[in-house]
Amino acid sequence: MSYDAVAFDREQNELVILDQTLLPGEERLLRLTDIGDICEAICSLRVRGAPAIGAAAAIAMAVAGGAAGDMPPADFRERMFLARDCLASTRPTAFDLFRALGEMADVLDTPGAGTAQLKKMLAGKAEEYIARSVDACRRIGENALTLLRDGDTLLTHCNAGRLAAVRYGTALAPVYVGAERGYRFKVYADETRPLLQGARLTAWELADAGIETVLICDSMASAVMAAGKIDAVVVGADTIAANGETANKIGTSAVAVLARHYGVPFYVCAPSTTVNPDCPDGAAITIEQRAAREITALWYAKPMAPESVTVFNPAFDITPAALITAIITENAVYPNNGGEFFGNSQTV
Ligand code: MRU
Repeated sequence: MSYDAVAFDREQNELVILDQTLLPGEERLLRLTDIGDICEAICSLRVRGAPAIGAAAAIAMAVAGGAAGDMPPADFRERMFLARDCLASTRPTAFDLFRALGEMADVLDTPGAGTAQLKKMLAGKAEEYIARSVDACRRIGENALTLLRDGDTLLTHCNAGRLAAVRYGTALAPVYVGAERGYRFKVYADETRPLLQGARLTAWELADAGIETVLICDSMASAVMAAGKIDAVVVGADTIAANGETANKIGTSAVAVLARHYGVPFYVCAPSTTVNPDCPDGAAITIEQRAAREITALWYAKPMAPESVTVFNPAFDITPAALITAIITENAVYPNNGGEFFGNSQTV
């Protein structure tokens, strides 16, 4: 990949994303300006993964600002808040989305700023957000490498790699940063039912980067751990609660249970922007529910379940803190201290 999965073309005032719904068959970049189109792209997972969603939302606010005509600041703010509300309604579990929107909305509170100045500030803020996100992912990789050894075999669930962030990813950041240092990791990728992010995206981006990869069905994780093939599990997160309980792609908690059973370390890798200090525990995290057809019909030539069947399709699950060996952010490795990660620290 010679480009980022999500980018800001400031000159053209466009959000540029790789349409992930088309992978692995087709690499197509979309150039978006309309907030409705951007919200659709986020809802339908054309751009996905919590850090990438946050970056896309920051860019979307800058683009919406840039596209607005000349108007009084009060009207401009009102217009921008409508854009923010639309973006906020897309993916409820991705806390980075709300962080990014909060930062962009703060810009709009700049006292005395005129409309032209606010537009410029929004664009500058989006660029700063992206740069910070790239730096955070790289540092997550560096911190994670302190826990891994050259030659390790890792298991990951869903896609928390370059496609899920602006660059590097989170759970896969140690693999990429390690590769820059000449380390050789092997990665087992869970296919990740129902939307197959592991098969379609993780396998694709790791192959693209020349990383040795083995694709397995989700139901095979136990077998590969039992066979002693896995040195560590690395996953991303959509929200981390103050007590360390973590929402990530559905099936993550099952992998954590297996890892505990087989004595494999289980690491959650995420930027500090994924930690919600106001969310006390996993039970308080909103879990996105998605359409039934993702289970019954998508990917199949014809429906694979009776039309009338009741479907439960939560997009994420909660991994209990007790099953997490450490949480790794750009700032530090937070080991599990008797079920506690962050102690009394206000900043993670
Ligand atoms: O529904 P998705 O594909 O957006 O879910 C993505 C995940 O669950 C990722 O693991 C998480 O967002 C972290 S991405 C670095």
